[in-house]
Amino acid sequence: MTRGRPAGGGSLVFIGFMGAGKTSAARVAAAAMNVRAVDSDELLERRLGMPIDEYFATHGERAFREAEEDVVCELLENPPSPVISLGGGAVSSERVRGALASHTVVLLEVEVETAWRRAGSRRPLARDRDRFTALHSERSGLYQRLADAVLPSSHRDVIRQALPWLRELREASGDTRMLWATSASGCYPVYVGEGLVSSGFHPVAGRRFLVTDDAVGELYAGALGKVAADVRVQPGEQAKTLQVAETVLRELARADMDRDDHVVALGGGVVGDLAGFCAAVYQRGVPVAQVPTTLVAQVDSAYGGKTGVDLPEAKNYVGAYHQPRVVIADPATLRTLPPRELAAGWAEVLKTALIAGGSLWKRVRQPDVGVDRDLILACAQTKLAAVAADERDDGRRQVLNLGHTVGHAIETATGYSRYLHGEAVALGLLAALTLSGQRELREEMAELLAARGLPIRLDPAVDLGQVATAVGRDKKRRAGQVGFVLVDAPGDVKVGCRVSSDDLVASIKELY
Ligand SMILES: NC(=O)c1ccc[n+]([C@@H]2O[C@H](COP(=O)([O-])OP(=O)(O)OC[C@H]3O[C@@H](n4cnc5c(N)ncnc54)[C@H](O)[C@@H]3O)[C@@H](O)[C@H]2O)c1
Repeated sequence: MTRGRPAGGGSLVFIGFMGAGKTSAARVAAAAMNVRAVDSDELLERRLGMPIDEYFATHGERAFREAEEDVVCELLENPPSPVISLGGGAVSSERVRGALASHTVVLLEVEVETAWRRAGSRRPLARDRDRFTALHSERSGLYQRLADAVLPSSHRDVIRQALPWLRELREASGDTRMLWATSASGCYPVYVGEGLVSSGFHPVAGRRFLVTDDAVGELYAGALGKVAADVRVQPGEQAKTLQVAETVLRELARADMDRDDHVVALGGGVVGDLAGFCAAVYQRGVPVAQVPTTLVAQVDSAYGGKTGVDLPEAKNYVGAYHQPRVVIADPATLRTLPPRELAAGWAEVLKTALIAGGSLWKRVRQPDVGVDRDLILACAQTKLAAVAADERDDGRRQVLNLGHTVGHAIETATGYSRYLHGEAVALGLLAALTLSGQRELREEMAELLAARGLPIRLDPAVDLGQVATAVGRDKKRRAGQVGFVLVDAPGDVKVGCRVSSDDLVASIKELY
């Protein structure tokens, strides 16, 4: 995606597959803006003097596409409205794609099942199910590349709620993309773009109460501008404790924070979890803006609302679900990240890619693939989809724990100091693949991890018995049983699997 939005952002242009609900979404947005939406298909039918399916049947697809291209380009070059919706296939024209560059393009995502149900057989390309499915997967990459913002649904509440944030997107640097996160307890925007932090982009009103660690604060706190409090903690996992949480909460109270204010969690996953937890419990809940600055946090921990601290007995044992008000992820901040921390983030990238399968898995298998905005977006979308389906970790969300059961146990057994979180996850992923009986995939994963300098062997000084005991205390256990996440193939991951203690011990042993 190399498009950059123009100053002002042009019109809001809704794109997406047939049946995505573009026309009604545009109407909802236009009504909220007190304007009339324009739909390219309606305009086209007026020009053609007949319904689209009739023109298609009498003149063929090629003639239809030519007519469509003319109408859509005219519409985009001289927009008669600030809100436009386009027919699903309009973006297959290069001229149309060029003309979209001067607008804010909003993709409405729709699953193939829903699209098929909604499209009905009256649309010319919705008569053959296999062809429809192939077209859906063929076009989805194209839509993603063109989109400035991706909304997962055309529901009128989503459109209304997202609208002010889409307007904010126009203020962000041209390469910024916006995702819309949904969950049972609330929705929020995710902005991913180079230079967002240094430009001071912060679309949340009210006083900001910064919580960061000493290292990140030194580098980036200044970019936030005026803050009502600047609370710093020591860098590293050791800060994720109840004692440190109490210190943070008392500093917020001393600075007179109230519920019209918000916490800004600037830093890696530790700051995100700790500050998010403080925001969840301070006066029973104040908003938090997550501004992740590590790879772990930008691809994983900043999204989904899990916040908390560790106990000496076990990791993440005290916490709360508290969805952020906004996430602002700036890949430029990763340039100051120490190489070991960047590598640790790769473990979460590889985990996410294994869960997602498809193009993300294909991408991370390439040698020398780097971190950029699109990689972060793809990982964030995978996580957000799991959270949208199951915020409270009762089902689908558990896939995100792939590699974490043994990974967390290694962290606990080593006092949260021998391995970084991502390094422990790397080892946990290998154990999960052993338990899955995936020999070849395990070998490939070991190579991918080693290529990033991640550990693929457990330090011999680490006590196997302690790791196995810590697995038994995993906070996701139910009725005394730990459910494992196992892999059938990339993109095909199952949750809640039982494994015998012999197999578990063997999978840990293999790590030495
Ligand atoms: N809530 C969730 O869903 C979730 C998911 C995954 C991980 N986590 C948690 O995240 C934590 C690990 O997060 P992490 O790996 O980001 O570690 P971290 O927060 O400790 O950050 C790693 C180190 O990098 C430094 N740093 C951060 N950003 C920097 C930057 N841009 N430039 C220079 N230095 C920078 C920090 O000061 C710190 O020393 C763990 O506690 C883990 O449990 C939570």
